[in-house]
Amino acid sequence: MKILVTGTPGTGKTTNSKKLAKALKLPYFSTKEIINDNPNVVESVEKNVKIIKPCLKKLLEKFLPHSYVLDTHLIEYAPKVDVIVVLRCEPFTLAKRLKKRNYPKNKIMENVEAEIVNYFSSSTNKNKVIEIDTSKIQSDENVRKIMKIMRDKKWNKGLIVWDDKKYSKLLLKK
Ligand SMILES: Nc1ncnc2c1ncn2[C@@H]1O[C@H](COP(=O)(O)OP(=O)(O)OP(=O)(O)O)[C@@H](O)[C@H]1O
Ligand SMILES: [Mg+2]
Repeated sequence: MKILVTGTPGTGKTTNSKKLAKALKLPYFSTKEIINDNPNVVESVEKNVKIIKPCLKKLLEKFLPHSYVLDTHLIEYAPKVDVIVVLRCEPFTLAKRLKKRNYPKNKIMENVEAEIVNYFSSSTNKNKVIEIDTSKIQSDENVRKIMKIMRDKKWNKGLIVWDDKKYSKLLLKK
């Protein structure tokens, strides 16, 4: 089974996907680590952000085993998987989490905007998508929820909607 865990930075991909991998007895991989081990996939670095070459996708397909949990924010270079888990987070909570990490204001707003428009679910044609709101619930519960949705095949792509009117003030602070 190939599972991709994605979502806006700060939604809890690393925390949750490590636990999910453990619960499913699957190996855990992260594109951040794979990129660090393969500097040839880095096109350039701009303002501390790595610009990644599209060949990352081929590398992942060659490198990854038959079954895994892959933690990635690079949905556009994702390999073919069976299930995509998109972690979501209430935008004010997400902004707080990113502030705690000392992200600059514009970076926080960019990520909050991506969360509001559900960029990660919208970027895939796949139907087998599980969205989980990580705002309040601890990760053990999140993992149980993910496994239940997988078992019941109750895919819920696009069902978590943040009311953009409520968050427009947050975006105006950009
Ligand atoms: N359910 C939760 N409740 C409260 N805080 C959480 C929850 N899940 C994760 N966090 C916190 O949110 C922060 C982000 O988590 P994590 O590093 O797993 O996110 P990420 O999606 O992997 O981020 P990145 O894309 O930058 O790697 C961490 O400080 C983590 O402790
Ligand atoms: Mg992470």
